[in-house]
Amino acid sequence: MRIKKQNTVLVVDGGGRGAALVDAYAKSKHVSLLLAIPGNDLMRINTKKPVKIFTHLKTTSIKKILEICKKEHVDLVDVAQDNAVESGLVDELEKIEISAFGPTRLAGQIEWDKAWARKFMKTYNLPTPSYKIFKSRQDGIDFVKKQKDQKWFVKAYGLVEGKGALPAENNQQAIERIKEMKRFGKAGEVFLLEQWLVGEEFSSFILADGKSFQLIGSAQDHKRVFDGDLGKNTGGMGCSTPPLVLTAKILKQVENIFKKTLIGLQKEERIYKGILYLGGIIVKGNVYIIEFNARWGDPEAEVIIPGIKNDLFEISTAVINGTLNTIKVDFDNKARIAVAGASKGYPEDYSAVKGKEIIGLEKAQKIPEIKIYSAAVKREGKKYTANGGRLFYIVGNGKNVIEARKRTYKAIKLVSIEGNNLHYRRDIGWRDAERIQKIKNSKS
Ligand code: GLY
Repeated sequence: MRIKKQNTVLVVDGGGRGAALVDAYAKSKHVSLLLAIPGNDLMRINTKKPVKIFTHLKTTSIKKILEICKKEHVDLVDVAQDNAVESGLVDELEKIEISAFGPTRLAGQIEWDKAWARKFMKTYNLPTPSYKIFKSRQDGIDFVKKQKDQKWFVKAYGLVEGKGALPAENNQQAIERIKEMKRFGKAGEVFLLEQWLVGEEFSSFILADGKSFQLIGSAQDHKRVFDGDLGKNTGGMGCSTPPLVLTAKILKQVENIFKKTLIGLQKEERIYKGILYLGGIIVKGNVYIIEFNARWGDPEAEVIIPGIKNDLFEISTAVINGTLNTIKVDFDNKARIAVAGASKGYPEDYSAVKGKEIIGLEKAQKIPEIKIYSAAVKREGKKYTANGGRLFYIVGNGKNVIEARKRTYKAIKLVSIEGNNLHYRRDIGWRDAERIQKIKNSKS
C-alpha cells in the first residue's frame, strides 16, 4: 500500500475501542476523512476532522461495507471487531484491492473458534489450562458427573460478545452452565470444559505483519459490574495500564508465547497480520493462556492507543506492507485508566434508562488530558442520550495509576444521567493503586 497525501480511513467498530481508533487516525497527518461502521454519535468529540458514521449498518454487513468503501474511495479499513474478522471482511477487502488492517478469517480462527484455538495451543506446546471439547450437552453433563467436585469454566466455542465463558464453582454449577450453552445458539453447539486457574489476569497486545512483531502494550480490565470485583460479568467496566504485575520475567514469557504462536500460525499457513491479543493469567509465576483474540481488547484499546506516539496510519500501513521492522513504536509511558459509564441495571435489565439524557460529557472533556470514548451514546437534537448498556469510557492519565485515577474520577463526577441513572465502578486500577501505596508505606 502506497501512502497518498490525503487518505480516507474506515474503522469497523461501534464501541469505545472504535472511538479510540477514530481519535488516533484523526491525529494522523495522512488522514483527511474518517468513516465508522456502525460508529456512534459521539465519536466526533475528539476531533475537528470530518467523521461520517453509519449507525444503521452492522460490522458484518459485508456487501454494504464494500459498497461504501468503493463509493467513499476508502484507502484503509481497520477491521477492529471480532465478528467482522469472522465474517471474512479482510479477505473480501483484499479481493477488491482495498487495504485492510486485521487478520484474515483463517488467521482469526484463533479467536472465533475457541475449540480450534485450544487444539492449536496443544499442538504448538503453548501453556494452556487443561480442557475437553464437547459437541453434545448430554456428553458434557455425563463427563462432569464422573469427575471429583471442582471449579470449571464452561466456554462456548464461538463468538458471543465476550460473554461465552461461564464460571462454575462446582460440578453442579458446571452442569447448569452446560445447559446454558443452548442460549448461545450455534456459538454454543460446541463447548469446552476448562480447568479454572487461579491467578492474576492481564491482557497483552502485539502488532504483527507476517514477518516480525512488536509488543504494543498490556492492561488489566475489570469485568465484574461492582466494586471489589463483585456482581455479574460484563463486557468490561474499566481498565488500567501498564499492569505492574508484568515484571521483566513475566514479559519474557509473554513474548515467548507470542513468538511460538506466530510460528505455529505460519506452519498452519495462516499468516497473522494485525493486532493479536493474549488474555493471560499468572499462576505461581507462570503465564497460561486464557484466550487469544484477533483484535484490540475493549476497553484495553482505550488506555493503550492514546499512549502511542507514532502516527497510527503509518503503523497500520507498515503492518499491511510487511515493513513493521522499519518502525519503532514509541509510547508516552504514562499510566492510564478508563472508567466505563453504564446505564443503571447493566448488565441485566437497563431498558428504563434508554433514551434518558446524559449530562456533562462536554464539561468532563474540558478537563486537561481527559478523553471520552463513546460506545452507546445517541445524539438527539442538542442532547446526548443513553442507547445501551456501556455508554462511554472516560480515560485519564498520570505518572502512575493513582494520579490517573484522580484525574479520571474528577472528570466522571461531572457526568450524570437524568434520574440518577449512571453507574460506574469507583475502584478501577485497584490492584496497582494498592501496590503503589504499599511501596510508599514501606518507604515512609
Ligand atoms: N476486554 C476483553 C475483550 O476485549 O475481550
